[in-house]
Amino acid sequence: MKSPIPDYLNHVLEKTRPIERGAPADYIETLAKADTSKMAVALAMVDGNVYSAGDDKVEFSIQSIAKAFVYAIAIEDAGLDQVLKKIGVEPSGDRFNQLSLERNTNRPMNPMINAGAITAHTLVCSPTATLHERIDRILKVLSKLAGRQLYVDEEVYKAELRDADRNMALGYMLKAAGVISCDPREAVKGYVRQCSINVNVQDLAMMSAVLSNGGVHPVTQEQIIPHTSVRQVLSVMTTCGMYDAAGDWVSNVGFPAKSGVAGAIIGALPGQVGLATFSPKIDERGNSVRGVAMCEQLSRDMGLHMMDVSHVARSTVQTSVSNLVGTEHEKQNPACARKVVVFKLRGAVRFPGAERLTRALAYELGKPDPSEPGSGHHSDACAIVFSFREVFSLNFIARKLIHEDITRLLTERKVLCIIDPTGVLEWDTAKAEGGRHPKIVDNDTEARDYIGGTGCQAVSEDPEW
Ligand code: DON
Repeated sequence: MKSPIPDYLNHVLEKTRPIERGAPADYIETLAKADTSKMAVALAMVDGNVYSAGDDKVEFSIQSIAKAFVYAIAIEDAGLDQVLKKIGVEPSGDRFNQLSLERNTNRPMNPMINAGAITAHTLVCSPTATLHERIDRILKVLSKLAGRQLYVDEEVYKAELRDADRNMALGYMLKAAGVISCDPREAVKGYVRQCSINVNVQDLAMMSAVLSNGGVHPVTQEQIIPHTSVRQVLSVMTTCGMYDAAGDWVSNVGFPAKSGVAGAIIGALPGQVGLATFSPKIDERGNSVRGVAMCEQLSRDMGLHMMDVSHVARSTVQTSVSNLVGTEHEKQNPACARKVVVFKLRGAVRFPGAERLTRALAYELGKPDPSEPGSGHHSDACAIVFSFREVFSLNFIARKLIHEDITRLLTERKVLCIIDPTGVLEWDTAKAEGGRHPKIVDNDTEARDYIGGTGCQAVSEDPEW
């Protein structure tokens, strides 16, 4: 069977192609000459699979999209505290190249407008680094994210630098305000160079997918951007990535995004997909007109709005009860013919899933409570089993809550066996207080053997245990 996804992407291109509004950026000569018939779209899944359609190999300069990734590099090199001292995180509501600083703090409003982006550029490597060192670092990281060696388009760089008066003015303003300490001309040249790195939509979709995948490259599995920086970058992309159109964008499209004046837009939906569109005609805000239309369509058709509640966290815990039957030589095992309660979790467990487990434990194993009919039914169980076989991940609070459940059950001297073949629980036997530990095993058989003796059988309503 041929996947319908590329056909769908072609359909999105054809649907938006008739839009003729906008014009290529005219303040950079090379961009003004762009072929406006070119259009492309790409999706990169968090497992590294890429779909694309249209002019997906056509290269263009990354422009302001670099701001999101350079912000991540600045956080890594200078530390988040230092970056926040220099650059705010408030949407400005102004144009991208507005000569403005935040009232009271004198910082650029955010790292997505030029004032903030020039400042972020100077925080790459160290404040004393040369332009060459900073660009070298930025090119290395961006190439790693794209999965191929990227390069600076010298023609675009020279063309933008010829008319960079406004950005130069921003550089001097930042120096005068004490935000940057290096030569403002060097800072702006470096910023313009980072804008002139060439990419195509496939590169951009993969770079976005790294953000969607918690900073881990979907193909190489390398953690390129630390998890905490990803959250910071996606947050400012959400509130400031589309400049003074940010509010419209969040309500209509609803995923973190960043645009560039060459006509590209990237989007990164956490945990799901990275995407990129390209069409050179931009609107007065600097966002590609067809690109915005493509993103609106993709979001609608594919349910990509981050505020859409696709499913409420339910049924992540399944409870079942079994009786163990011993073998001939272990008939006397005290666990035999008594019940074992099994709690099975599934999927990516976060606070709601762990809360369901905690509630189920209290209900099934606690004292009977007349106000909760059926509660305490299994308080006499000889053993408790947690099965994490189908758990893909536990976030920190889910893990913390389940650890606390385990500690409390052990304090009550319950026999506890945990099926955790992938080690997702991260139970540290060296650290547990009082030296009490659950038995951790790889599969159901090992759990049964531990509780009821080698080779015992389970008789249950649940055929799996
Ligand atoms: O600073 C500039 O003018 C450009 N090199 C980058 C601007 C940009 O891409 C704005 N975004 N849509």
